[in-house]
Amino acid sequence: MLTDGDSRRPLVVLRGLGKSYREAERERSVLRDVNATIGRGELAVVLGRSGSGKSTLLNLISGIDLPTSGEVMVDGICLTGLSEQARTRFRRRHIGFVFQFYNLIPTLTVEENLLLPLELNGRRDKGRALALLAEVGLADRAASFPDRLSGGEQQRVAVARALVHDPLLVLADEPTGNLDAETGGQVLALLDRLSRAAGKTLVMVTHSVEAAGLADRVFSVQGGHLVERAPLLEDS
Ligand SMILES: Nc1ncnc2c1ncn2[C@@H]1O[C@H](COP(=O)(O)OP(=O)(O)O)[C@@H](O)[C@H]1O
Ligand SMILES: [Mg+2]
Repeated sequence: MLTDGDSRRPLVVLRGLGKSYREAERERSVLRDVNATIGRGELAVVLGRSGSGKSTLLNLISGIDLPTSGEVMVDGICLTGLSEQARTRFRRRHIGFVFQFYNLIPTLTVEENLLLPLELNGRRDKGRALALLAEVGLADRAASFPDRLSGGEQQRVAVARALVHDPLLVLADEPTGNLDAETGGQVLALLDRLSRAAGKTLVMVTHSVEAAGLADRVFSVQGGHLVERAPLLEDS
């Protein structure tokens, strides 16, 4: 549970982040001097052209990847200062992911997919997994394998999986990118509603104008820089 002091402390702080890749003996810089602070409970959307570095940015925030320079703080912990093992532990415990292509484990049932993030944290809470499945409207598909589900249904399972272990932060990388507009809209509404209901911070990479319309903060990656834009205003 958050105390008042906690709620004022930002959840994600990016300081002077840079990332370059070495390719054919040359350094290619993808992100340069990225600075941002994201508060607890905020929905931040990240826009940007394909190849601009959005996924790279999410991988730095989650600690999957390390920056070439700068630091990433999540919940006051400097991820860039941790060992790989400690970063993995932190990520399993505190971060949930939604990917464009769902990334459910095909050999596990829907229920087993939802139990996995709990088991990785030494918990087994079937009740919680099934309750979240009900929240995403798929209570009757617990025993199904992912390939029996439509794309939209798989993504709803992925939304439940991203939240089941009660993470601090949810990262979504083009979660509606593989869905038609209507199905994508449903997944988006679900992700927004469940994250907000649970008070989660959500950072979502998207091309969807609809998603940007739901956001508290809108950023875009341009020329390696993260630029904040004014959020789209709802009818006012
Ligand atoms: N592991 C890697 N090695 C080399 N280059 C990479 C690697 N990952 C990403 N890139 C390059 O970094 C740039 C940004 O990629 P990415 O973050 O995936 O963009 P986006 O998600 O915005 O489409 C691209 O030019 C991509 O080719
Ligand atoms: Mg990407």
